[in-house]
Amino acid sequence: MREGVLKRYRDFLEITPNTPMISMGEGNTPLVRSRFIANELGCGELYFKLEGCNPSGSFKDRGMVMAVAKAIEAGSTAIMCASTGNTSASAAAYGAYCGLTTIVLVPKGEIAAGKMAQALAFRPNIMVVSGTFDQALTMVRTFTEKYPVTLVNSLNPYRIEGQKTAAFEIVDDLGDAPDYLFIPVGNAGNITAYWRGFCEYNSLGKSTKRPRMMGFQAEGSAPIVRGEPIAEPKTVASAIRIGNPASWKQALTARDESDGIIDSVSDDEILAAYKMLASKEGIFGEPASAASVAGVAKLSRGGMDFSDKRVVCVITGTGLKDPDLASQQADMPLQELPLDLGAMEKALEEVVKESLSLRAKAIEVIPWYPEPIC
Ligand code: F0G
Repeated sequence: MREGVLKRYRDFLEITPNTPMISMGEGNTPLVRSRFIANELGCGELYFKLEGCNPSGSFKDRGMVMAVAKAIEAGSTAIMCASTGNTSASAAAYGAYCGLTTIVLVPKGEIAAGKMAQALAFRPNIMVVSGTFDQALTMVRTFTEKYPVTLVNSLNPYRIEGQKTAAFEIVDDLGDAPDYLFIPVGNAGNITAYWRGFCEYNSLGKSTKRPRMMGFQAEGSAPIVRGEPIAEPKTVASAIRIGNPASWKQALTARDESDGIIDSVSDDEILAAYKMLASKEGIFGEPASAASVAGVAKLSRGGMDFSDKRVVCVITGTGLKDPDLASQQADMPLQELPLDLGAMEKALEEVVKESLSLRAKAIEVIPWYPEPIC
């Protein structure tokens, strides 16, 4: 039953008798154990937290439901954000669900097609600005300070509050915190939220440890790694094309307190992980999400030993958000087939043979876990 994060985690959130208990069924997302690439990446146990399974297709919904509930509780009737795509889609969805006025600003030409289509479908007030996400966010911050409109970017503390529930779910599912959490970093709200969630659960005795937080930025958009803002961030992963993260300091705290790292991966590494995740695990995440898996691959190649570790990668959004990139990356010829059974049998002869041998091998080599984790 998908009761939503406000109800499920009400004891850990700032819920008052006046908080509207809204839900579109966000949270309670699958934690799927890797069957193939764990081996390749040298991980004892590797899991993927599928945040693309949230109602609007990304983790943003966990924070948005909380921010919107608190905005309504405070008497607000309008919400606003700047976005690289997912926050705007989520805000517009929850805005429509709650009958609020929603205003979103997105950098022109920088948003993946699926996110734009999605935001438009909810019919918010949407504006494209000729500038970067960082510049759009500065405008939104100034505007919302001046007008009675609630900012729902992750600067809104309730966004972080809602998003920390993903860490709770991981501990609830695994029975303890993992050894490592790999997560893409853009505006740095999510790494901040996860760290808070792991710390809170640990201090309540719900876990014996806290994970090392392993944040990954894209190489051309890695201000935290480089130690200075980047005026014109670049990467194929448009969701994390951010040059001056709002939660920069908090991300450093998460890194330092957890003995973790914030590092970067190249676009090539991101795309390799994006393809590997889909073709070898059946998980279609968006490019930004693949930065977490690319991070494991990079460190593993560099000699870090995860062989007796439990590792979780956060897959922050669904691959359907960016259909253009998915088609570009498919690089596979489409086979034409006449409408003729004989021709089909001939075309598939080798495929069927190969599948029989593969199947035997898969059953032998890869254990089927007795119970799904989710
Ligand atoms: N992954 C996806 C799919 C995202 O959409 C974002 C951020 C991140 C990772 C990074 O998370 O910003 O908390 O460090 N997207 C924002 C947006 C900025 O506007 O949708 P973060």
